[in-house]
Amino acid sequence: MQKFNHSIAVVTGAGSGIGRALAVMLSEAGARVAISDIDQAGLNETFELIGSASDDSAGRHHQQILNVADKEAMFAYADTVQNQLGNANLIINNAGVALGTGSLQNTSLEEFEWLMSINFWGVLYGTKAFLPQLEQAEWGHVVNISSLFGLIGVPDQSAYNASKFAVRGMTEALRQELDLEQSSVSATSIHPGGIKTNIARNARLSENLSDQERASIQEKTDQFDVLARTTTDSAAQQILTGVIKNKRRVLVGGDAKLMDWVQRHMPNAYPTIFGKLLELTTGSKRPLV
Ligand SMILES: NC(=O)c1ccc[n+]([C@@H]2O[C@H](COP(=O)([O-])OP(=O)(O)OC[C@H]3O[C@@H](n4cnc5c(N)ncnc54)[C@H](O)[C@@H]3O)[C@@H](O)[C@H]2O)c1
Repeated sequence: MQKFNHSIAVVTGAGSGIGRALAVMLSEAGARVAISDIDQAGLNETFELIGSASDDSAGRHHQQILNVADKEAMFAYADTVQNQLGNANLIINNAGVALGTGSLQNTSLEEFEWLMSINFWGVLYGTKAFLPQLEQAEWGHVVNISSLFGLIGVPDQSAYNASKFAVRGMTEALRQELDLEQSSVSATSIHPGGIKTNIARNARLSENLSDQERASIQEKTDQFDVLARTTTDSAAQQILTGVIKNKRRVLVGGDAKLMDWVQRHMPNAYPTIFGKLLELTTGSKRPLV
């Protein structure tokens, strides 16, 4: 983790889960960390953790409420970070949400737009807002959090799938452009499998759901906690190791590695195989997140 010593790292959605673990690990590695989230309480907790993790006063870090879906706020935030900490080396576009609305047919256009505004547009705004200062720093890296569901399509996740495939496509294109330019900046697309976080618990549910549908989603949320085997610390370690190795793509967790292999070797059969694996472990062929 030597690479991150004295670096300036920005992590969105750092008030919980993977973002929090990344912020703590970067702080421990000696980075100055700028964290943001829409959740003030979660953000405060992370800020305290990074202050103590670096065995230093929290003064060298920065925290701010930021909705990544707010374009103007994101660009203003990039300026604030530059003014307060200096040119960022690392932008980790991590903030993301899930929908528990069921099939594409049952998901409204407004729900699609809400999810895309955070999971795709938020990642694009973060990338565009921070690229100029990454280029001015000694080295720079864009880390965009996609998902295993940016590699495979699954039932009841059409909006989430669309957003995560979009993040992957954008990041892979950006990486090739940066390589062609022999830029000092690089880019990595991250594909976690199930990670033990609050994402399923925080999934937005449709107001039109019946009590029975709500109960079924609650059951799936409980199953997610059992299914998600990778800890946030392990995920953060795998992500930052991928950055150090300058990987184009990082698969986080055994489940992501397995399903990536299956979809590449059996592009037509993978949905059946994924459904069977899911049914064996949860009793249902439909994942929540
Ligand atoms: N947990 C998993 O199994 C898993 C798997 C694949 C990908 N991911 C991705 O990892 C990323 C982190 O998710 P997590 O699992 O740590 O979930 P989490 O719910 O624990 O953390 C997500 C954080 O993002 C914040 N957030 C939500 N909307 C925001 C907005 N508009 N602006 C700023 N912050 C916002 C939340 O308040 C929360 O603190 C997401 O992009 C998610 O899609 C997670």
